[in-house]
Amino acid sequence: MRYWPILLTCVSYQVFAADISVSSPDKNIKFTFTDQNNLAQYQVNYKDNPVISPSKLGFTFEQAKPMYRDFNVKEVNREQVNSNWEQPWGEQRIIDNNYNELTVKFTDINDKNNHFLVTARVFNDGIGFKYHVPSNKPRAITRELTEFTIIDSHKATAYWIPGQGYERYEYLYNETPLKEVSKANTPITVKLGSGVHLAIHEAALIDYASMSLNREKNGRLVADLSPRSDGVKVRKQDSFDTPWRTIQIGDRAVDLINSHLSLNLNEPNKLGDVSWIKPGKYVGIWWGMHIQKYTWGSGEKHGATTENTIKYMDFAAKHGFDGVLVEGWNTGWDGDWIANSELFSFTQSYPDFDIKKVSNYGKKIGVKLIGHHETSGGITNYESQMEEGFKLYQEMGVEQIKTGYVAHGQNLKRRDGNGIMRYEFTDSQDIVNHFIHNVTTAAKYKLSINTHESVKDTGLRRTYPNWISRESARGQEYSAGWSAPNPPSHIPYLVFTRMLSGPMDFTPGIFNLDYPPLKGGTEEDGLSDYMRPQTTIAKQLAEYVVIYSPIQMAADLPENYEAKPKPFQFIKDVPTDWEKSIALQGEVGDFIVIARKEKKHRQYTGKDWYLGAITNEKSRNIEVSLDFLDKGMKYEAQIYKDGKNADWRNNPYDIEIIKQVVTAQETLKIKLSEAGGAAIRFKAL
Ligand code: NOJ
Ligand code: CA
Repeated sequence: MRYWPILLTCVSYQVFAADISVSSPDKNIKFTFTDQNNLAQYQVNYKDNPVISPSKLGFTFEQAKPMYRDFNVKEVNREQVNSNWEQPWGEQRIIDNNYNELTVKFTDINDKNNHFLVTARVFNDGIGFKYHVPSNKPRAITRELTEFTIIDSHKATAYWIPGQGYERYEYLYNETPLKEVSKANTPITVKLGSGVHLAIHEAALIDYASMSLNREKNGRLVADLSPRSDGVKVRKQDSFDTPWRTIQIGDRAVDLINSHLSLNLNEPNKLGDVSWIKPGKYVGIWWGMHIQKYTWGSGEKHGATTENTIKYMDFAAKHGFDGVLVEGWNTGWDGDWIANSELFSFTQSYPDFDIKKVSNYGKKIGVKLIGHHETSGGITNYESQMEEGFKLYQEMGVEQIKTGYVAHGQNLKRRDGNGIMRYEFTDSQDIVNHFIHNVTTAAKYKLSINTHESVKDTGLRRTYPNWISRESARGQEYSAGWSAPNPPSHIPYLVFTRMLSGPMDFTPGIFNLDYPPLKGGTEEDGLSDYMRPQTTIAKQLAEYVVIYSPIQMAADLPENYEAKPKPFQFIKDVPTDWEKSIALQGEVGDFIVIARKEKKHRQYTGKDWYLGAITNEKSRNIEVSLDFLDKGMKYEAQIYKDGKNADWRNNPYDIEIIKQVVTAQETLKIKLSEAGGAAIRFKAL
């Protein structure tokens, strides 16, 4: 008799605990909601083995009751979808969308009015789940409790950058045991002891705060939302949905790249006709500022002059580029432009830049002026002038604007309704909303936006296809000499982490590596003897294939391309819009080989394939089966590879350019030198 109460608890527990599962169409992934221990939880199995062990779901709020303990679960609905859809531009034209969906309701055992729904979608390449919280009153979320408890954490390796840091997302990647992760940004990629690869991220981040992950005990990663300036995580007026929490799952590292999970979890295009959004290639008055040949501000070295822009436009027209980006044409750059964000004008030119003259000149020769809006994080200053800035650009025939938000950490400036300056993260709720406001307003003026220092990508290009690219990582600019350069492993990390989220304006194609370092220093400061891109020339070409973006810059100065016309030919040939993409081989941080088939558009026949391969600091021999090529076709393979004596430190310019006829039956063997690469155009014969 003494044991009755204990027995009763156990019995009631077993009677009421529910497990409700949904599997992927191929049955490899099983997602289960459970209320074991009266906690709202989920778990994930892959090929019959757990990969995510029971992990909490729920919230705490400033005033409302927590959604935390004493919840039970009930099934609400199931759906199945097997369809596909077409991207207006992208790394792949047709996207398969094949999943099984389950919605459940978690209810507070002691208060049936305290409940929330969770919908899970299980695809063959991973899972996504999102909350729906019904409410008839405003709520302030103080914590989202979502956990991702990765099994066997002591055997797992994580590839990650810090979340909510001073440099936003512009960090070098850490490769550490999972148990050494602290606060990580997403996507975070994890290789389990079994060799299975996971990437945790989010999709469709709208009117919410971005999710970083805090590692708590062992492999338990817990959501940590970027706080608003008032300390609350997210404010909502009534019922709300969260973004999707996603886990991509694959046996091989490249499976993560070949997955389109995040795009599938975003809403379809909301802009209607988007034929005005144009992928393409551009040059710009840009690298010159980074290597201090020019200045953004006024004075003798001012880069954005009418004369210089016309020179760049002539170069663009001669070599088939679509546009010329001009930075530093508008007033506000003089002095400390990072601190003085409120001085930026988005309509007033410096006297030596005649915007009408250059855009008219561009129209005559078929080259677009590409706009630039650096805000240095001054959100309110920008929003008060944004439409005027867009109008001016539209009148000038501009179709694309690069925006910038250079401000460190929680330092983006937003004036509240009372005119008080508030300081925000790049990815806190109000700034997330600012970016959406920016791209949707730009769409009214038929302008596409390429955001630098942006909130991370969560696949919103599907919903707003004019959000044409973004930075949100350490780009090539870090190797211009003003910072510790990106090491050779940077791109082999980027493609398996940051690039899982969407296109990146990395700005490839630096051909001249002989400029004086702008800073001297030691390895200890993070500075090196090689304060410039740590690369061979062949690798610079490979970047155009490996790093996907519908707009790609040829970042170097015109004279540096004219000095090396042979490798430059590859940059002129390579398209930026693709029918199909396949990541063929690679390991996180080591190397990557990607093949892409061009899409039929403009001058592109839709028949050619391209391949890019990039290695880290190790030289390696790769063997690539060409079985991705179309069967029965012959191609002229135009191969740009590291020359025999290529050496990124002492002889980076050695490149071997050869042509040979190939078919899908062949295998190519290519040697990549240290920090090297290879780029191939397979021209259909
Ligand atoms: C940082 C951007 O990433 C870079 O491309 C730009 O030149 C500067 N900000 C100035 O806007
Ligand atoms: Ca940047």
